[in-house]
Amino acid sequence: MPSPREASSSLQEKMDEAIDGVNKAIARLLPETDLPEARLFDAMRYGTLNGGKRLRPFLAICSAKLFNVDLKRAKRIAAAIEFVHCYSLIHDDLPSMDNADLRRGKPSTHKAFDEATAILAGDALLALAFEVLSHPDTHEDPRVRCDLVQALALAAGGHGLCGGQMLDILGEKEEFDLGTISRLQRMKTGRLMTFACEAGAILGKAGEPQRKALCNYANDLGLAFQVTDDILDTEGQVIHLGKPTGKDDKAGKSTFVSTMGKEQAKARAEMLVQQAIRHLHIFDGGRADTLKELATYVLKRRA
Ligand code: IPE
Ligand code: IPE
Ligand code: MG
Ligand code: MG
Ligand code: MG
Repeated sequence: MPSPREASSSLQEKMDEAIDGVNKAIARLLPETDLPEARLFDAMRYGTLNGGKRLRPFLAICSAKLFNVDLKRAKRIAAAIEFVHCYSLIHDDLPSMDNADLRRGKPSTHKAFDEATAILAGDALLALAFEVLSHPDTHEDPRVRCDLVQALALAAGGHGLCGGQMLDILGEKEEFDLGTISRLQRMKTGRLMTFACEAGAILGKAGEPQRKALCNYANDLGLAFQVTDDILDTEGQVIHLGKPTGKDDKAGKSTFVSTMGKEQAKARAEMLVQQAIRHLHIFDGGRADTLKELATYVLKRRA
């Protein structure tokens, strides 16, 4: 058994390797251009090639590995998921949403460019994600590609990320109960993480029980991740997070922290992570150990 320190440094190594591969895939799929509309592509590159933990790409790569999916394909999926995530961050930071000037330690895209360009860059990143998924290089079987496109549409749309963001804004004016907060967080953050895990299973033509186990894992992990994000908003450091803190309270957002207090929110996140890990029991022989370790990391993260 490795010591916890060794275990976490080996997880970091795996994450670093995945991040490097995904960054290369993103840069390849989103090259610089000298077209008259180059400003749009510059903003798209700015909003995606600006660091980030690349957690969702890592989830996709780990879940694809469970089914021996070719790494090149997994990296395409991982890049597509990060395009959607980065689009959501660019729009989330806009003055009409969270009005945040700092992202990943740099001026937010609307600050580095302007609001109109940031809106268009987000729109184009979302479209690019679907372009990548539907390309034959992602999978030769059109049914697999169609499955991927449908699953991402469900995760990103009105019943997923966008719906969650709508609730998040409504929650500034209305006090939500825990059930509603949990639903909004599963939608705005959990659904894309669920897709990341599901995508590996779709690419690998996995059976229904495996696909379901991964979705359940990611659903709980996503909620724990957002609860931790809300805790970090109250006690994290800008230098580590690369984004402003104290914003949820100032905006009057309904979060686990605002409803049950920080200590109970921490306990809830821990419980969710344990629950997430239990969903992986069907993967025998330590095959899902990296995903299990990742779940614990999500809880302890400071950035
Ligand atoms: C931030 O996500 C937005 C949330 C859903 C909480 P991350 O914390 O994964 O941000 P990056 O990608 O590492 O910048
Ligand atoms: C954002 O949640 C979730 C998204 C879908 C973008 P937050 O608004 O809490 O994310 P941060 O704190 O700005 O990264
Ligand atoms: Mg927000
Ligand atoms: Mg925000
Ligand atoms: Mg936040």
